[in-house]
Amino acid sequence: MAYTVRKLDDYAPAALDAAVHDLLSAVGQEAGSVAGENDWKLFRDRWMARKNGILTQVNDLWLKAAPGPAKREVGARVNQLKTEVERAVDAAQQRISSSGSKSRLDSERLDITLPGIRRPLGAEHPVLRTMSEIVQVFRAMGYSVADGPEIETDYLNFEALNFPPNHPARDTQDTIFVAGQERKPQRDRLLLRTHTSPVQIRAMMATPPPIRVVVPGKVHRADTADATHSPIFHQVEGLAVDTNITFCDLKGTLDHAMKAFFGSNVKTRFFPSFFPFTEPSADVSVTCFKCGGKGCRLCKMSGWIELLGCGMVDPNVFQFVKSNGYDSRKISGFAFGMGVERIAMLKYGIDDIQLFYQGDVRFLEQFN
Ligand code: PHE
Repeated sequence: MAYTVRKLDDYAPAALDAAVHDLLSAVGQEAGSVAGENDWKLFRDRWMARKNGILTQVNDLWLKAAPGPAKREVGARVNQLKTEVERAVDAAQQRISSSGSKSRLDSERLDITLPGIRRPLGAEHPVLRTMSEIVQVFRAMGYSVADGPEIETDYLNFEALNFPPNHPARDTQDTIFVAGQERKPQRDRLLLRTHTSPVQIRAMMATPPPIRVVVPGKVHRADTADATHSPIFHQVEGLAVDTNITFCDLKGTLDHAMKAFFGSNVKTRFFPSFFPFTEPSADVSVTCFKCGGKGCRLCKMSGWIELLGCGMVDPNVFQFVKSNGYDSRKISGFAFGMGVERIAMLKYGIDDIQLFYQGDVRFLEQFN
């Protein structure tokens, strides 16, 4: 039977003690059967609610109703009851919340013997991979590797490469200029390098002949992006200067490099071309590595694929680095430059250059 507060009719200390004892054993029992949060709230309100909680009733029925002389005795006991009931309510709360965290621990138990989750490993991007494969072919022939800044001066990108100011050859390189440089002399104006060729000049300024370098790097042109163009792309440049370097050396070097890169059965073909900084200049084609030269879609039925530009270093270029020992009466050299994306596309059969820049893992993971 649930505990209810009854009026007192005997105020003798022994009778008061008995009433207190009944109440305390009732609260102790009820506290013991509190099982969860909701239970506990009901329990707390039943005993402690201001309005009609058991303590309030005790106050009304025992203390307020007590005759004057008994009030002291009753008051002391009511205060004691208050403390005891509060303690029982607190203790019940403690008990259910600690059993709550135990069940949380149980449900969140971790099996540390399970195998972990593997993070997928990244891989080298196909463009960088192609670039380092090209560089490796030349390193094996004794070339060293150089690089230069992507923000370059007009002087190194054009003038020292024998593109005179306002020469129409500059128009073939759709240049992105750094804004706000109109007050500088033209040669000092900054631009995003349109090719890796300025590093030819940088390398010759840093090292007297003989020199053999390859220059992998990023270049920029104001091209609209489409399946074969990107405003940012990559080139590998090469330069060899020594005594008695001839066009034969150029042909032999590039023929070897193409065979090393695409396979020993490709053939190379040199076609007259023009670059301001090489004379004579040539474009190099290789036999189509898909059809072997018979003609297919990849080579547009010609059997040949155009891959790079090259030529003998123009004596006018040596003029700009003469003070470092480049005397065109004593030395000669050749240079070449190739687009890395184009070579990677041909090698892997990729038909859209934009795929290289979109970061789609489904595309990239094919090259792992
Ligand atoms: N720099 C030239 C280009 O970007 C390529 C090239 C390099 C040609 C070296 C000849 C010699 O088109």
